[in-house]
Amino acid sequence: MLILGIETSCDETSVALIEGHENELRLLTNVVASSLAMHVPTGGIIPENAAREQVKYMLPVMQEALKQAEKTLEDIDGIAVTYGPGLIGSLLVGVETAKTLAYVLGKPIIPVNHMVGHIYANFIIQVDSPIPSPQSLFPSIVLVVSGGHTDLLLMKAHGDFTLLGGTRDDAAGEAYDKIGRMLSIAYPAGPEIDRRAQTGDPKRFRFPRPLLHEDTYEFSFSGLKTAVLREILKLGADPIKPTEKPLPNQTINDICRGAQDAIREVLVKKTIRAAKEHNAKAILLSGGVAANQTLRDEFMTRAKELELPLIVPPRSLCTDNAAMIASAAYFNFKPVPWEVITADPELYF
Ligand code: KG4
Ligand code: ZN
Repeated sequence: MLILGIETSCDETSVALIEGHENELRLLTNVVASSLAMHVPTGGIIPENAAREQVKYMLPVMQEALKQAEKTLEDIDGIAVTYGPGLIGSLLVGVETAKTLAYVLGKPIIPVNHMVGHIYANFIIQVDSPIPSPQSLFPSIVLVVSGGHTDLLLMKAHGDFTLLGGTRDDAAGEAYDKIGRMLSIAYPAGPEIDRRAQTGDPKRFRFPRPLLHEDTYEFSFSGLKTAVLREILKLGADPIKPTEKPLPNQTINDICRGAQDAIREVLVKKTIRAAKEHNAKAILLSGGVAANQTLRDEFMTRAKELELPLIVPPRSLCTDNAAMIASAAYFNFKPVPWEVITADPELYF
């Protein structure tokens, strides 16, 4: 079965083609165009600008994907599209394109929740780590950590998710990006904070680990952002205009280390606790923050201690892409009439 996936929930415009056979899914191509460079000067995404760019990128990205996979629109068996959550203007670009294709070509269309899509990046075949069978996988504990969400879920079967807890305020990726802005680190700040943290002093700054010891699977990261802000002020710098009185390079690295350690400890400890409590057979990571090398390494170590398989997408499939959307549609193939699909920016689990 050949599925064409479309993802436009934030600033990326992505089209992927995947070919599925029973429990195996091969990625033929995954084209991602980003308007990221455009958002650097503003330190974040201006939704209106992102959507305008996506209107321009949508068809060329689709043409490129079909060309790379050596397929035509006639070859596809289903169209998968992200319908939420995300920015409304951005979502509409993908949703309306997918609906038009479904109508004109008479092909099935499957609306996909973007967060569920992130989880299904784990089910695309990788040469060096085949996907375990459903019997050996479920129930799994899933951590979704992205720019918009930090959620812990229990996954009992394909498409069967129970939310154990989410963030009460900022998402983990949002914390990275907001802390990055105060340190003059370009958006999205996660990769650069991770790089700097490698040479940061782990003892110089100890930031709070909210809700770590409380009996809840909820998260809270806004206090961390405030703690970093206070520290920057104490050091005599300006977190609002960080380029005017820049901090020494090593101090920035030390703050990055302190902040990253705090985020990582909370994510790892809560996920491991959930895995133990629910007798999980595996832990699945997903979302843009799962591209974080330090987080991946720490999870690998902890999962090994518990003799639990850890499944993590390749780093390129952690951040937004259409392959994960096509994958979610393949494993949950529930087409709906195109007329009933509407973009839903507030969609949740
Ligand atoms: O999943 P994603 O691409 O978009 C959303 O659905 O939000 O996640 C983007 C987020 C950004 O906040 C970015 O800073 C973070 O993922 N991110 C990282 C890394 N790469 C991306 N955070 C930490 N370490 C990384 N290597
Ligand atoms: Zn995402």
